Amino acid sequence: MKKRINIGLLGLGTVGSGVYAILKKRRRELKRLVDADIVVKAIAVKDLKEVKNRPELKVDPATVTTDAAAIVHDPEIDIIVELIGGREPARSLILEALRHGKQVVTANKEVIANDGEEVLSLADEMGVDVLFEASVGGGIPIIHPLKEGLVGNKISRIVGIVNGTTNYILSRMTADGISFKEALKEAQKNGYAERNPDADVEGGDAAAKIAILSSIAFNDRVKAPQVYREGISAITPDDIRYADEMGYVIKLLAIGKEEADGLDVRVHPAMIDKSHPLAGVNDVFNAIFVEGDAVGEVMFYGRGAGSLPAASAVVGDIVTAARDIQNNDTGKIGCTCFEIKPVKPIGDLVSSFYLLIESNDKPGVLAQVSKVFGDANVSLASVIQKNGAGNSAQLVFITYPVKEKNLRAAVAKIEKLEVVKKVVNVIRVESV
Ligand code: HSE
Repeated sequence: MKKRINIGLLGLGTVGSGVYAILKKRRRELKRLVDADIVVKAIAVKDLKEVKNRPELKVDPATVTTDAAAIVHDPEIDIIVELIGGREPARSLILEALRHGKQVVTANKEVIANDGEEVLSLADEMGVDVLFEASVGGGIPIIHPLKEGLVGNKISRIVGIVNGTTNYILSRMTADGISFKEALKEAQKNGYAERNPDADVEGGDAAAKIAILSSIAFNDRVKAPQVYREGISAITPDDIRYADEMGYVIKLLAIGKEEADGLDVRVHPAMIDKSHPLAGVNDVFNAIFVEGDAVGEVMFYGRGAGSLPAASAVVGDIVTAARDIQNNDTGKIGCTCFEIKPVKPIGDLVSSFYLLIESNDKPGVLAQVSKVFGDANVSLASVIQKNGAGNSAQLVFITYPVKEKNLRAAVAKIEKLEVVKKVVNVIRVESV
């Protein structure tokens, strides 16, 4: 048994500084839990100023370097904690740490969702672990529950709100009727959205997260680029208002389902019934709804981003990695992705849809649009017409479940009708 477990921390940003603070604050308790002192022996930063900017951490300057590779190669380091983010150099550093037989803890969703196979296979070969609880849902425990506590279930679906920035934006648009742009500005001002918010807003962040969750839940390997994704930048206050009138709220959902003919994995804005527990998840909170054949429905809820919530998950992984070192039991969980299942194209999705169409306000318009739907076998569940400014009207349709490619073909024909000014939006209605 070791008396001391040495940590090499790569990155001292938002999450890294949270991890450092928790390890320091909980040092005595963690020592008793692991039977060894968990010590941050070395920290790699891009710029030494990063340490000066965080005087509250009281980091010993002698432990800080800009040479991350030196930490990975240090034979005295037992666990590498990678919190740099982005694919490179994080991927290479993780692989190098594994080659040196070290346990690895990471919050890196890009690496796990794109290079997970390579990383986990190497860990398996080397008999060590890669733990990545913080890569999805920030502080919410979800990776370990899927791999361990829920493993007795055949999981049929996962539906999550896994991006705090977009959930904040949609919550603000819903609460105060403000535009997407105004809500995004607020999110940036509050420090929620990244400076370049595209990964959040266009669904890339959520796509990486549902790729990871689907891979574990369905014992498959889903990579981020296989996930169909749409962001929230086209959602308008009108969409939010009509959704509300019809008993729905709009959320950016990350969905993974196992069906007889393959996996349905996607990220897009969706209308969900106001009474569903996910509808009440607001602001930067995340929630992940899981359905298993034995447990039924369970929902995990909490803070999906932020320094201490994400650090809470990282420290949990550090303790797991340290205990496994102490018990000579590393490399036991490994990859649960042993099957290859096809990911279904979005055109094959069967869903209800909401459509907002701006048209001329004159007799016969509704009949013309409805005829196109009828000819394409798209059955309408409800129709609302509102008079707009001047000679225009807004037509709002909810369809019965229909194959997406049939709906899209009908929309293309509707866009060509002379009486139609614009198909403003098409949003899936998800019966969660
Ligand atoms: N940018 C992410 C979010 C947090 O807004 O949820 C890190 O995954």
